[in-house]
Amino acid sequence: MYGSRSDAITPDIARILIHRDEIRARVRALAVQIADLYSGDEAGLTLVPILSGSIIFLADLIRELPLKMKIALVQVSTYPGNTTTPQAPRTVIDLTGQIEGRNVLIVDDILDSGRTLRRVQALVRERGARTVRTAVLLRKASKAPPDVPVELVGFEIEDLFVVGYGLDYDDHYRNYPHVGVLHPELMP
Ligand code: IMP
Ligand code: MG
Repeated sequence: MYGSRSDAITPDIARILIHRDEIRARVRALAVQIADLYSGDEAGLTLVPILSGSIIFLADLIRELPLKMKIALVQVSTYPGNTTTPQAPRTVIDLTGQIEGRNVLIVDDILDSGRTLRRVQALVRERGARTVRTAVLLRKASKAPPDVPVELVGFEIEDLFVVGYGLDYDDHYRNYPHVGVLHPELMP
């Protein structure tokens, strides 16, 4: 059952790809993996969520993490407006927090062409992170580039344009609680 607020946007969604219950269970499992990776860590953990797509994933993930951590934000734009093909990445908000000497876990919604993560991983290394790892909720398996290491993956998906659980189309649908596929006629 969906709440009334999500019902209001469901006519635009052709089908649910990953149900919110499945996401919740997988996020909990990822949190256990992350807690194992960083327990006993002396340098201190900084999460770097990539805005805006990672916000829902981040919010759910960190509440399952029994670790001391800081958060440093960064925003990179690759799909401006209503485009579904990536453009050259542009840093919109530079890294906001302390990176030097910290163990950094970059958090993003989806690994597609890898351009966004390649840029953010380089930025974090330039700022002197002690270690750099990356967690994504989704990975489009057919496209994942070999030079962009991602240690934690929630779900492998087909090469489809998906929305919901933080992912947008033209900045809409981030609040849709599942990961869904838009009706094709809504996209150019
Ligand atoms: P990449 O740079 O091509 O790997 O794309 C990563 C960024 O593009 C993500 O942070 C998303 O914000 C966005 N993106 C990629 N694929 C999708 C999609 O299927 N739906 C919505 N956003 C996407
Ligand atoms: Mg986006």
